[in-house]
Amino acid sequence: MSRALLIAAALLAAPLAASAQSAALDGQALFHAKCGMCHEAGGMGTGLLARRIQPAELEKRAKLQPDYVFQYARRGLGNMPPITPGDVSDSQLKAIAAYLAAGPHGAK
Ligand code: HEC
Repeated sequence: MSRALLIAAALLAAPLAASAQSAALDGQALFHAKCGMCHEAGGMGTGLLARRIQPAELEKRAKLQPDYVFQYARRGLGNMPPITPGDVSDSQLKAIAAYLAAGPHGAK
């Protein structure tokens, strides 16, 4: 198998496994794909948030409001750049916000 095919297969496998949980947009998978590089454990966002709020990982928060997540992601905040509709569509961002608001989620 070519290298490109292997990569394509790997990229397809992850969302397929996650989408078994819900037929709609998968907020958890989207969160990891679009926000995880900064908001997972050890991420830059997690590190900066840890200075003022605990738990610093957004997935472990109990009281995040969907509107709050949506607005701050769109506007940006401090060292977080604005997340544009080109990066993450409104419906994708709503799915991410709903997933975070349904927390706390256990460590993955
Ligand atoms: C390039 C890194 C980066 C990416 C990508 C990123 N963030 Fe952030 N985010 C940050 C940083 C850094 C902060 C802390 C800002 C500060 O307080 O200075 C933050 C803060 C936040 C906050 C505020 C949390 C609080 O307690 O006030 C929310 C909500 C948030 N991010 C949501 C998201 C969502 C949703 C996504 C994906 C769509 C995302 N972020 C993608 C870096 C990032």
